Amino acid sequence: MADILDGKLVRDAILESLKPRIAALEELQRPPGLAVVLVGNNPASEIYVRSKVKACEELGMFSEKHMPTDDVTTEELLFLVRSLNARPDIDGILVQLPLPAQIDEQQVLMAIDPMKDVDGFHPVSAGHLMAGRPWFRPCTPAGVMKMLAHYQIPIAGKRAVVVGRSDIVGKPMAMLLLHESATVTICHSKTRDLAEECRRADIVVAAIGRPAFLTPEFIAPHAVVIDVGINRLKDRAAVDRIFEGDAARLAAFDKNGSVVVGDVHPAAFRNCAAYTPVPGGVGPLTIAMLMSNTVLSAEFRFGNPQA
Ligand code: GUN
Repeated sequence: MADILDGKLVRDAILESLKPRIAALEELQRPPGLAVVLVGNNPASEIYVRSKVKACEELGMFSEKHMPTDDVTTEELLFLVRSLNARPDIDGILVQLPLPAQIDEQQVLMAIDPMKDVDGFHPVSAGHLMAGRPWFRPCTPAGVMKMLAHYQIPIAGKRAVVVGRSDIVGKPMAMLLLHESATVTICHSKTRDLAEECRRADIVVAAIGRPAFLTPEFIAPHAVVIDVGINRLKDRAAVDRIFEGDAARLAAFDKNGSVVVGDVHPAAFRNCAAYTPVPGGVGPLTIAMLMSNTVLSAEFRFGNPQA
């Protein structure tokens, strides 16, 4: 039986470790503050943003939400970001992606003060990551590293295959694994013999955004499988095919009209060493690392009272 890597457990440990740091900052100056910008009404983004604001509240951090309508212009968003850059009570700025098509996404992300770039998407943050210097790391790959560390999964000298080359997950994930001395392969839509590449891996990170794409022939029995995908399925036939024999999931689909699946096919989890479930694996860690980056940002600003 494969081990399950429990993201909620690791998240709770991360959040617990932040509490004394937040208390110390509050004593010294003020609690850390996060501003979240959510454009338009994308239901998935709304759920993520709500969770981020809730996590701040539970930790006693300050947070605020800005919700421009989806006809906002790049100029207007730039104005908002610059006003948040100038605010002394805001440590972190997060612009929820994706943005509507008329927005120059790169320009908006580049406008965020790197000192407040708690998403770690700014080229300055990417440069620090590349150079191996301490700075804000993109939250999802940073969370994956915390997961591997928590479960004491060896990385040095292991073959790691990252499937997906996005700026947000794939590329930073590969760099973080490389810094821990893994032999890293980055695969993508043009990769030949993808299943064979994955089968050679000791650690597989699936981050391509395609439901149940990595089927059992992609996964070696000794592999640790990290599934970053969160795909909502609404098609009954696809759900029946992917979750065949899983009465609980099929019942959940009947009740809700949709069900979430990762980038890894559930059948592929049956024959591996350990895996992150979807939901409840990597997802909870992304928010925990956002909180962690926001605390770090306040510590950069005021000095780490605990150091
Ligand atoms: N959209 C999906 N994931 C993320 C994330 O981690 N940060 C931002 N800003 N947008 C996202």
